[in-house]
Amino acid sequence: MVSEYRALRSSVLRLWLAQETSVEHPERVAEIIRFNEAIDQALMESIAAYGKAVETTRKLVLGVLGHDMRAPLTAITMGAGLLANAHQMGVREQKVVGQISVSVERANDMVNDLLDLARCNLSTGIPIQRQTFELRELCTSFVKEVSLAHPEATIVFEGISSLSASFDPQRMGQVISNLVINAIRHGDVKKPIQLRLTGSHGVAQIDVHNWRSPISPDELPYLFNPEARLARATDDSENTHGLGLGLFIANEIVTSHGGTIDVMSSDEDGTTFKVAFPQGS
Ligand SMILES: Nc1ncnc2c1ncn2[C@@H]1O[C@H](COP(=O)(O)OP(=O)(O)OP(=O)(O)O)[C@@H](O)[C@H]1O
Ligand SMILES: [Mg+2]
Repeated sequence: MVSEYRALRSSVLRLWLAQETSVEHPERVAEIIRFNEAIDQALMESIAAYGKAVETTRKLVLGVLGHDMRAPLTAITMGAGLLANAHQMGVREQKVVGQISVSVERANDMVNDLLDLARCNLSTGIPIQRQTFELRELCTSFVKEVSLAHPEATIVFEGISSLSASFDPQRMGQVISNLVINAIRHGDVKKPIQLRLTGSHGVAQIDVHNWRSPISPDELPYLFNPEARLARATDDSENTHGLGLGLFIANEIVTSHGGTIDVMSSDEDGTTFKVAFPQGS
């Protein structure tokens, strides 16, 4: 597009200058300047419109892809479930079916993250459905679930014995599991991971703590912004595990609840993610 505008500019100027020695006439010079400005303006507007169209298409493709991937993934999950219950399978086949189930679950998580990203990109945001729920119960069930899936980690859950709040249990569960899985994946699993629930002045707070070398201060401002992290990533930056969307989505969910996520990371104190949101009615 830019080269087409350039070609247009030079052809018009060439024809114009061939017709008359215009530079000797001040009014012609003013016309040429106006023409150049008009071309520059048109070029800027076209680039902006093109960029917007490309961005919208990218977001839509992401949303459609995420949405359409769900059906085949559900079919694979169901198929693997049926096979797992079949009796005539040998040990090797059972192992393969187990691996299919784990992989399809991982693919499902990624597709769900992509769909959440698409929702945020298209400004519809992540929808939440609040209900009054026991936050301690939710934390306990997620700690159990994650501990079962990651027997290599020790998760210590502490804090107040009960805390009722108004929130979306499924989405807040997603936040807790994202933070705890991050602590396992990016922290030192040989040391306990701590989940702490507190509540004061109508604000519920969940802290997730892990040990290991701290997140560098350069990375901290971009932690919740996957696009900025991607732009800064070097070829040798290693992230072999996920799409790098977990914290972004967790932050969007907490923001939808009127809350915040903060992070503190240092050599002496390890890494703590703090989720705080109003308990509501
Ligand atoms: N508890 C933690 N301790 C140390 N580093 C962390 C912790 N949580 C997140 N990070 C750093 O922040 C980055 C972003 O985390 P995020 O959860 O958004 O993405 P991810 O875990 O890499 O992938 P995904 O969550 O999409 O599977 C991680 O790649 C890691 O470098
Ligand atoms: Mg993560």
